[in-house]
Amino acid sequence: METMEIGDYFTFEPAKGVPIHDWFYYKEAYSPQLVEWALKEFGIEKGTVFDPFCGIGTTMLYAKENGFDGIGIDVSPLALFVTKTKCADYSEKDAEEAEKELKGLFSERREEGWGWEFELFHPSRFFGKRNYNDICFLRERVEEIENENVGGLFLLALLSILPQTGFFIKDGGVLREQPKKSAMPVKDAFKRKVKGMVKDLRGKRVSGAEPELKLEDAREFSEAKADVFITSPPYLNNIDYSKVYGLELSLLTMQKESTKTMRGREVRSFITGESFGACPPEAEEYVDIPIAGTYFADMERVLVNLRKIAPKGCMVVGNAVLGGKHIPVDEILIEMGKRIGFEGRIGAVKERVADVRPQKLRTRESAIMFG
Ligand SMILES: C[S@@+](CC[C@H](N)C(=O)[O-])C[C@H]1O[C@@H](n2cnc3c(N)ncnc32)[C@H](O)[C@@H]1O
Repeated sequence: METMEIGDYFTFEPAKGVPIHDWFYYKEAYSPQLVEWALKEFGIEKGTVFDPFCGIGTTMLYAKENGFDGIGIDVSPLALFVTKTKCADYSEKDAEEAEKELKGLFSERREEGWGWEFELFHPSRFFGKRNYNDICFLRERVEEIENENVGGLFLLALLSILPQTGFFIKDGGVLREQPKKSAMPVKDAFKRKVKGMVKDLRGKRVSGAEPELKLEDAREFSEAKADVFITSPPYLNNIDYSKVYGLELSLLTMQKESTKTMRGREVRSFITGESFGACPPEAEEYVDIPIAGTYFADMERVLVNLRKIAPKGCMVVGNAVLGGKHIPVDEILIEMGKRIGFEGRIGAVKERVADVRPQKLRTRESAIMFG
C-alpha cells in the first residue's frame, strides 16, 4: 500500500458504514484500517494492544475482532462508555430482546420526569420541546431495561442521535446554534439507529475477548504491560473534548457538572489558563505560545509512561499552525521520544493546507512509529 493511502485512514471517514465501528460519530477518531496497517508494519500477529487515548474504541474493537487482547484508557466517561458498548459480547438473545423492547418503548410515554441539564447552557436551547422531552423520557427509560446489553445499546443509540435531532452543529472546538437546521424527530432517529445496531450484531459476531477499559489519565498511567500501542492523542488545535461532547457527556452521566470534572484531566491541547509546566527542551522554540508549552509538557509525560508499558507503537499526530508559526509536532515528539528511549520515524503522512488568513500554510498529519 502507498504511504498516501494510509493517510486517508487518519480520519473517521473510511469507518462510516463499517459495522459497529460507526455506531457513534467522533470526528477526531481514526479508522480501523489504520490499526490494521500499524500492526502489519510492526509484524505483530497476536498479543496485547494498548491505547492510552482510546476515544470511541477504534483500536480496541479492531483488536477484539482480530483476536488481540486490548487495554484502553481515556479521561472521558463518554469515550469509555462508547468503547465498552461497541466491544461487548452480544448474543442472538440480546438482539431479540432489543427488538422486543423497541416495539413497546414509546407506548407508555411520560411527559414529566427527569430534566436534562448541562453546565454551559440549558440543552432545551438546542432541541425542539418535543425532542427535548423525548430525550429525557428515553434517558430515564433505558435505566429500567433489565438486560444490561440492551440497556447499553439503547443508551448509545440515544447519545449518537443528538446531533441529528438538535439545532446545532459541532464546528471545530465549539457547539454552534443553527436554528434553521432540520432536526429529525427523536422517535424516528432512535428507532432507525437501534434497528441498524441490531442488524450489525446479527451480521457479525465478534469473538475475541472484551478489552480492559479504565477511566485514567495517560499522563499518570503506567500500570499495564502490552506488546504494542496504537493511538492518537488530542491534537494541538484547541479542541476541548469535554465541551464539544459536553451534551452527550451530561446526558450519559445525568450530571450537570460532568464537563468540569473531565476538563481538569485532559491533555492541555487548548487554552486552560494554567501555567506552562516545564516545556521540554525539544519544544523550547515554541515556548512563547502558551498552549504549545503545556501540550509538549503533557506529551512528554505520556511518552515516559508509554516507554514503561510497551516496547513499540504507532501514534497519529497533527502538526499545527499557531500564532502564525508552523509547529512540527511529529518531529518534536520523535526528538522527545529519542531522549526517553524510543527510536522514532514517520511511517505515513497526510498533507494538509492550513487556512490561516491571509496565508495558506502547508502542514500535515503523521503516523509516528516508535520502537
Ligand atoms: C484523537 S481522540 C482519540 C480517538 C481514537 N483514536 C478513536 O479512533 O476513537 C483523543 C482522545 O484523548 C482523550 N484524552 C484527552 N486527554 C486525555 C488524557 N490526559 N488521558 C487519556 N485520554 C485523554 C480524549 O477524551 C479523546 O477521546
